[in-house]
Amino acid sequence: MAVTATPKIDARRLRADFPVFDRPIRGKPLAYLDSANSAQKPRQVLDAMHEFYAYSYANVHRAVYDLSERSTAAFEGAREKVRALINASSTREVIFTRNVTEALNLVAYSWGLANLGPGDVVVITELEHHANFVPWQQIARRTGAEFRAIPFDDQGELMLESLDELARQGQIKVVAANWISNTLGTINPIEKLTSWAHEQGAIMVVDAAQAVPHRSVDVQALGCDFLGFTSHKLCGPTGAGALWGRAELLESMEPFEMGGEMIRSVSVEETTWNELPYKFEAGTPAIAEAYGMGVAIDYLEAIGLEAIDAHERELVGYAMDRLAELPFVTVYGPPAERRAGILSFNVDGVHPHDVAQMLDFEGVAVRAGHHCTQPLVRRLGVSATTRASFYLYSLPEEVDRLVEGLRKAKDMLG
Ligand SMILES: Cc1ncc(COP(=O)(O)O)c(C=O)c1O
Repeated sequence: MAVTATPKIDARRLRADFPVFDRPIRGKPLAYLDSANSAQKPRQVLDAMHEFYAYSYANVHRAVYDLSERSTAAFEGAREKVRALINASSTREVIFTRNVTEALNLVAYSWGLANLGPGDVVVITELEHHANFVPWQQIARRTGAEFRAIPFDDQGELMLESLDELARQGQIKVVAANWISNTLGTINPIEKLTSWAHEQGAIMVVDAAQAVPHRSVDVQALGCDFLGFTSHKLCGPTGAGALWGRAELLESMEPFEMGGEMIRSVSVEETTWNELPYKFEAGTPAIAEAYGMGVAIDYLEAIGLEAIDAHERELVGYAMDRLAELPFVTVYGPPAERRAGILSFNVDGVHPHDVAQMLDFEGVAVRAGHHCTQPLVRRLGVSATTRASFYLYSLPEEVDRLVEGLRKAKDMLG
């Protein structure tokens, strides 16, 4: 029998691609443990965007001259890269957005306003980022639909036993869930939720902001109806993201924003819409940013998403072992073997913001707060946590520096 070894990455070598690590922070090498918030950018992306702006830039789709054609080819080339990354069946199903927040709002407004009403139920999870929570809550309110959350247990994992009770509360029309929790690192059973949503006759909307940068995603194999992600978390620029949706659903929906590019013809009497995906791309898009996202996708694929995932899981296991040495630290969420590279914790007697500040003095960058998941953090019984998160360039010695920084924080402030 053939044995396939888990692919490995050389994080130390990859780190050399990221200029940010060349400069000390507060006189110390940067330990960047905030990639769940936003990832750092490799030279490959920075240089390609510089070249693009310098020599290939013009507005897209609107002109026939060479520069515009080159710009359009780069922009549409990025769409094809997104399509291939998530194995969508057509670029018609790939809509460029500003970020995943806009992708999720697009679905909530365009699909939700037209398809929800009294007696319908929108189901989200208690683990949602506000980007997938608030739009659905507000659209449910506007349409008279019920809004319900799948709760999570003491290990930060969804309580699927609550699904039957939810199904009794009305006609479930939407299930919207993140694949990986940005606060706890919980890997949600997204395939199961998708099957359940379809059994109820509902659509399945996946917030894959923390999944697409870190693991292989195949929308056809998953079978969901919409999936969104954001470029800046996958080593690409800010200002770009993508929504994938089933063509038949996108065809049936009204545009989200209106203006240039998204029309076929306009007159005082009537306006008709452009074909997919342009129907959902009003105005001049973030051209260089979409292109940069495509370059970032190339960069990740050359490394291998499976290898990136394995690297982060190894690090999170190491980090959990090391944090277990600190009796004054409480770690939230599932055990290492069921968790992505995200770790939320608190230090007894020290506010998370003070912990983050102390770590910053040591050159360790982490995030403190509610991580745009107030219902989740409230359910944990705290007002905030400190969060460390890993990516392809993260190293075990950064975990060691985190642990030393936490000891100092406890000694000085606890
Ligand atoms: C799970 C999840 N969803 C949505 C978002 C929102 O991303 P953006 O601000 O790029 O739209 C984030 C960002 O932290 C996230 O982690």
